[in-house]
Parts: sequence; C-alpha cells; structure tokens
Amino acid sequence: MSFHKFADNAELIAFARQHSPVFAPAAVLTVEEISDGNINYVYRIKSDQASVIVKQALPFIRIIGEGWPLSQDRIRIEAQSLQRAAELCPAQVPQLYYYDAARCALVMEDMGDHQNLREALLAERVVPQLAAHLAHFMARTLFYSSDFYLDSHQKKALVKDFINPDLCKSTEEVFFVDPYCDHERNNIHPALQTAAAEMWQHAALKCEVAQLKMQFLCQAQALLHGDLHTGSIFVTEQSSQVIDPEFGFVGPIGFDPGVLIANYLLSYCALGQMAGVSAHYRQGLRQTIADLWNGFTAQFDQLMASDTRDASFKQASYRQYYLQQLLADTLGFAGTEVIRRTIGIAQVAEWQAIDNDAAVGVAKGQALALGQQLILQRRTLGTIEAMLELLDN
Ligand SMILES: Nc1ncnc2c1ncn2[C@@H]1O[C@H](COP(=O)(O)OP(=O)(O)OP(=O)(O)O)[C@@H](O)[C@H]1O
Ligand SMILES: [Mg+2]
Repeated sequence: MSFHKFADNAELIAFARQHSPVFAPAAVLTVEEISDGNINYVYRIKSDQASVIVKQALPFIRIIGEGWPLSQDRIRIEAQSLQRAAELCPAQVPQLYYYDAARCALVMEDMGDHQNLREALLAERVVPQLAAHLAHFMARTLFYSSDFYLDSHQKKALVKDFINPDLCKSTEEVFFVDPYCDHERNNIHPALQTAAAEMWQHAALKCEVAQLKMQFLCQAQALLHGDLHTGSIFVTEQSSQVIDPEFGFVGPIGFDPGVLIANYLLSYCALGQMAGVSAHYRQGLRQTIADLWNGFTAQFDQLMASDTRDASFKQASYRQYYLQQLLADTLGFAGTEVIRRTIGIAQVAEWQAIDNDAAVGVAKGQALALGQQLILQRRTLGTIEAMLELLDN
C-alpha cells in the first residue's frame, strides 16, 4: 500500500479500532485533532468510555508543508524508542498499542489527565515525584543502551537501528550553528542584539560549542530521547510520562539531561520576570534540578557498579571519572539548549507568558548570559549545586 494521509475520520476510527484493545465493539467513536506541536498529525479517538491517540508522520513538517521535507522514518524511531522505554520503565511512557510502517502511524495510550510539564511549571504547579521519575527514566534508558551494558555487536546493531539523519541534521543546525552567527532563522529580542553580536565574536565560547557539536555528531554513547524538553513530559501528582522520542539516535549521554535541565532553567528565568510568582516556587525549581541530576547520577552509578559487563568500567575510580565528564557534557549541552531557545528559531512558550516586553528582554538576557556561563564553565563547576549558584535568587 502506498502512503497516504488518513483521509477522514472514518479511516482514523477504523485504524484505531482495529489496532487498540480499548474499545467495545459497539462503541461509537469520535475524532479530535490535537496536533499542537510542529511536526506531525496527532488525533484523539474516543468513545464515552475510552480513548487512544493516533500519531501520523507525513513526509514533511506539518506546519510548513512540502517545502520542508522530513523523513517519515522518524515515526518508526519513535515507535521503537517507546517500546524500548516501556520495557525498561513502563510507568514513564504511554503504552504503544501498534505501529504501522505503511501508514507511518502509531496508536498509543491516551495519557488523559496528565498535564504538559511546561504548562504545569508556568502555572506554578508542584510536581513532587517528577525528579525521581525522570532520574529513573534517564538512568535506565541511557545505561541499558550504552556500552556499559550491551555487548559490542548489540551496541552496533542499536546504532544502526537508530540512524536518524534528518532529525539529527535539524538539531545540528538549530543547536550548534544558527545561534552562533547572524542567521536569518534567529529571532533575537531587540534588548539582546548587542549581547548576541558579542557572543558571535567570542572565540573561546565558539570553540566549546564546536566541541559539543562534534560530540553530538559522533559520540555514540547511548540511545537518546533526543528532545527531552518539558513540553515532551506530561505529569500528574503521581505519574510522569515522556512522549515524542522521534529525535532519538545513539548520541552523547549528557544531551538528554542537558536539555531537560536547560528547560528548567528557562522556566526559572521566565518565572523570575512574572508578577506574583513566589520565590519559594522558584527555589523549588532549583531543588528539582539538583534532585534530577543527583538522582540520575546516583542510579547510573549504581547500574554501572551492578550491571556493567566489563570489569574495567566497574571500578569506583572509573565511575567517578565518567560521571564527572558527564556533568561537564550535560552542562555544555544545557547551555546550548538555553541559548537556542532564547535567540533561535524554536523558542519556548515561557517567553510569551511574560506580559511586558521589557521584562521579556530581561529574562532572555539572563538566559543568554547563563547559557554562555554553562558552556564556558562546564568543566570547572564540578557539582550541580555549584551550577545553581550561577542563578539569581
Ligand atoms: N499519548 C498521548 N496522550 C495524550 N496526549 C498526547 C499523547 N501524545 C501526544 N499527545 C498530545 O499531542 C500533542 C502533540 O504530540 P507530539 O508532541 O508527540 O507531536 P509532534 O508533532 O511530534 O510535536 P513537536 O513538533 O513538538 O515534535 C502533545 O503536546 C499532547 O498534547
Ligand atoms: Mg515531535
């Protein structure tokens, strides 16, 4: 069957009914399109008792159209990544019911009452379990896809399965190229023009960014989510779930925690310029960043000690060395995410939530400075607590 977009609701309903276990045979189903991202079509198919999500990848970016082609292999990668994560930490991903290669579509569990984490943070919602859940998710997905656990042949097969050139290329450009030159895709607040122009001349910073880019290009350490920002995470009081791993590939481990921490830092900067936001809530964000990092590395270290195949990687001194490198990588990638979300093409909803433009300039100025500090000081900060000292109160 040649590929076509789901033509109408009847096709979507038939697909969802056939490929999920949740609907009673006589149930009447309706369709709602809920695509709120940029790239794919996402639908909720529901009866009065149950619902599922159908996601379909067209051969281009949804909001741009055929002018920006994008490999549909991304949906295979998303399906396989969700499946792997389900085996390692089933509570942290929606269940995948079905993946259809010909339709470039998948059917998954509806997260229902979960709220987008980016929106939850903007609403000053406290999410007590989140750091523990995501530390668990990152430690297990990253460790069990790394050379610490896989044997050499399994690891190379994993790299091959998750070759993702189109989506990697887009990350390579928006993270490591555009923000460091006067690129037409950038979107720079007038208050940041001078600071951005200074950054473009900062040779030491650009050398660090080149090193991070080279790591991203060729350091095949573990299967990454590849886009682990707060908009890809959904929460309730008791549950945290991660979606949208279409940018997955085998890359540097620090990239996932770096992107996640960066998005907390972006929320922190934005909330600091919003009227009425409590200092206590922002302090909680700092604590979450520390808990995320310390929880993640404690579990990763424990897995290195217990489940690593090669004894040479189990040594306490090697583990300590490795995790210190990982902090430096994580802070570096965090810096690039903070910068690209502040002056690049794809920014964050937090900036629009600040109601006065001068305050947006202040928050973005803080973020741009912080991103550069993270990149330049990534090897010397030494602890996540020292990194948090860079923040205002
Ligand atoms: N399993 C799910 N349960 C409930 N809602 C979901 C689920 N998957 C996706 N959604 C909803 O659909 C929206 C878009 O999904 P997703 O982010 O996967 O799409 P995308 O096109 O890949 O987005 P992006 O452009 O950010 O990559 C999500 O923000 C969420 O609101
Ligand atoms: Mg996506």
